[in-house]
Amino acid sequence: MAELRDAVYVDGVRLPIGRAGDKGYYAATRADDMVVRTIRALLDRNPQLDPTAIDDNVWAATTQQGDQGLTLGRTTAILAGLPKSVPGYAIDRMCAGSVTSITNAANAIRVGAQNVVIAGGVEHMGHHPIAEGADPNPRFLAEKLVDTSALVMGVTAENLHDELPEISRQRADSYAVQSQERVAKAHAEGVFDSHVVRMGVWSEAGWLVVTEDEHPRPGTTLEALAGLPTPFRPGGRVTAGNAAGRNDGAGCVLLADRQAAAELGLPAHMRLIDYVFVGVEPETMGYGPIPATQRLLAKTGLSIGDLDVIEMNEAFAVQCVAFLDHFGLPTNSPKVNPYGGAIAMGHPLAMSGARLTQQLAHYLQTHDEARYGLVTLCVGLGMGASVLWERI
Ligand SMILES: CC(C)(COP(=O)(O)OP(=O)(O)OC[C@H]1O[C@@H](n2cnc3c(N)ncnc32)[C@H](O)[C@@H]1OP(=O)(O)O)[C@@H](O)C(=O)NCCC(=O)NCCS
Repeated sequence: MAELRDAVYVDGVRLPIGRAGDKGYYAATRADDMVVRTIRALLDRNPQLDPTAIDDNVWAATTQQGDQGLTLGRTTAILAGLPKSVPGYAIDRMCAGSVTSITNAANAIRVGAQNVVIAGGVEHMGHHPIAEGADPNPRFLAEKLVDTSALVMGVTAENLHDELPEISRQRADSYAVQSQERVAKAHAEGVFDSHVVRMGVWSEAGWLVVTEDEHPRPGTTLEALAGLPTPFRPGGRVTAGNAAGRNDGAGCVLLADRQAAAELGLPAHMRLIDYVFVGVEPETMGYGPIPATQRLLAKTGLSIGDLDVIEMNEAFAVQCVAFLDHFGLPTNSPKVNPYGGAIAMGHPLAMSGARLTQQLAHYLQTHDEARYGLVTLCVGLGMGASVLWERI
């Protein structure tokens, strides 16, 4: 097999994450306009990049209709004012949407088909609630291909608690408090300033510029979390406080062939080494990151101890604690989600992989001693995604 080229991470931006719903930041903003804002910001931050050098514009969204429909990669390339010569396409792997945009884009670069690609994800969960408009095949339930619980992500998290009784609600809540604390600290330290770009939005009060994530609840306490109801099961363990929320957001990264980046004067911060997507039981989709990471480590000959930082999507606290327990890491491991995660920040499904990758890049850029970083997510209907990057 011919040697693969290096696909490198050049830059990445995302919008402040909003809460889905009538009162959220982006209630009156179109999803495709959110995408356009991030593409323009990427170009503004990299003025040396001639837009005609962009070979593709790859965008993920879980719901691909309405303002997220009509082949988002192409519509937003035109709306963003990219030259008409820049093509684009749309892609879906639910929560791993933008991670799949990124691995697809990286592969096109690695095999030499393309040199410079924008890859991202958007989800306006206010405009597109999970599964709205979907028409699952009745065979799923009639033939018991999956249990009904597989179709509601919060119930799959309750199932995971059932299988792992050592992960109590108290442990899940402690993890959630830690996520809030880490996000507050990272925010105070300006970590998110490296990749979060502001956006003007229309609101009931007129135009306003949103600059920071809307979802975090700094000061969250264990006592407050202990009093929250369990919406997915009476007497359950999953609450609004230890689950990711429903959110609106868009984010993308700029990837390039390493040599092309040098020729174009673009920085190269990290290179994609390899990745794994796996399927797991849909009823306990939160296991996904465990086998995905196991297989990726086996493929690359690394051990969990070789990873200097792990950016894990926090769909639910139980799924994160399961991962930490499995790999023998303490719940407060400083190398896993050092800047907190989606429980505090929010999880606009297909967008989250871009956010995780940007935070990984930030960590590797600011920690000279670090070499390997992992992005990992669980995915609806039972999947896991893990991507390994190496600092340049
Ligand atoms: C869990 C879920 C149902 C909660 O939705 P919600 O009820 O609209 O959430 P809210 O933000 O209104 O929070 C509910 C309550 O908890 C409280 N709360 C939430 N987080 C809190 C925190 N950190 N500290 C204290 N209280 C908190 C809110 O104040 C609210 O209280 P109120 O009812 O008195 O106003 C929803 O966020 C959800 O479905 N999450 C999972 C999304 C998902 O499946 N994603 C895909 C993953 S694969």
